[in-house]
Amino acid sequence: MTRSIVLTNHKGGVGKSMSATNIALGLVHILRHFNARNSRVLLIDTDSQGHASLVTTGRNDFGTDNSLYTVLMADRREAPNVLADCIVQSEWDADLHVLPASPLLEGAERELTGTAGAPYRLADPLSKIAPHYAAIVIDTRPSFSLMTEMGLLAATDAIVPVEPRYLETVGLLSVIGKINDIREGWRHPSLHVSGILVTKMDRRVKGHTQLLDEMKSHNVLGQLLCGVIPQNEAVSYSHHNHLSVFNYDPKAAASVAYGELVANLVRQMSRQKAG
Ligand SMILES: Nc1ncnc2c1ncn2[C@@H]1O[C@H](COP(=O)(O)OP(=O)(O)O)[C@@H](O)[C@H]1O
Ligand SMILES: [Mg+2]
Repeated sequence: MTRSIVLTNHKGGVGKSMSATNIALGLVHILRHFNARNSRVLLIDTDSQGHASLVTTGRNDFGTDNSLYTVLMADRREAPNVLADCIVQSEWDADLHVLPASPLLEGAERELTGTAGAPYRLADPLSKIAPHYAAIVIDTRPSFSLMTEMGLLAATDAIVPVEPRYLETVGLLSVIGKINDIREGWRHPSLHVSGILVTKMDRRVKGHTQLLDEMKSHNVLGQLLCGVIPQNEAVSYSHHNHLSVFNYDPKAAASVAYGELVANLVRQMSRQKAG
């Protein structure tokens, strides 16, 4: 089964899109490095703001006939073909493909309310296309809305990016609780919390290191920490220039940290495959 990693947190600005786009490209790089038979990765943008689509494709004008919105509105039997038709190649790498978001997704939840099987309108057609990809990465909007539920139902691994200042235990446990609800309440047993990713970490800030230490010693959260991405100017510059952080500056602290995270994810995935 193709692993599908969703980046989710109901807070905005915590690095979901930044992490989704760079993890997706990082996976292409590492798969290619190890001569994998298939190094194609699909990035799915479910956020109507379309930041992940914009930085990877240079476009934010996707709409009724060429975006995730098109897939969600398609006839159920046609949806897999529609999804395949809406995928575009990114500008970052020929093997990084994108199912772009559209501003129209803002109204899609309302339009789909009451439609039978609405939460599965991404997962169902995606299951037909997924075997063509080595991995899938899904970016979500900052809320637990129908769109985010769709993303979680299409995923096998959830990563929760969080800024050190938002490391409150209660908030994080509730995000993890939501993901577990989807697994158990919606009978989606293949979904697991893959980890908490601390982003924008500034070790010079005492509050940041204190919060990270508290998290590490927490009996649940400590086990879930899967990476720490430093606060790094290279990230904001790369974002601004529509580049991956790896291309912008492969030696930047954030590039190194994202590289390590991706290597860990690949190790975790191959262990689960073998186990
Ligand atoms: N490690 C980092 N260092 C510096 N700036 C970052 C870092 N991660 C994200 N940012 C910046 O923070 C802002 C929000 O990131 P983004 O990925 O868009 O968050 P989200 O998708 O969760 O709303 C962006 O301007 C991005 O460039
Ligand atoms: Mg975002």
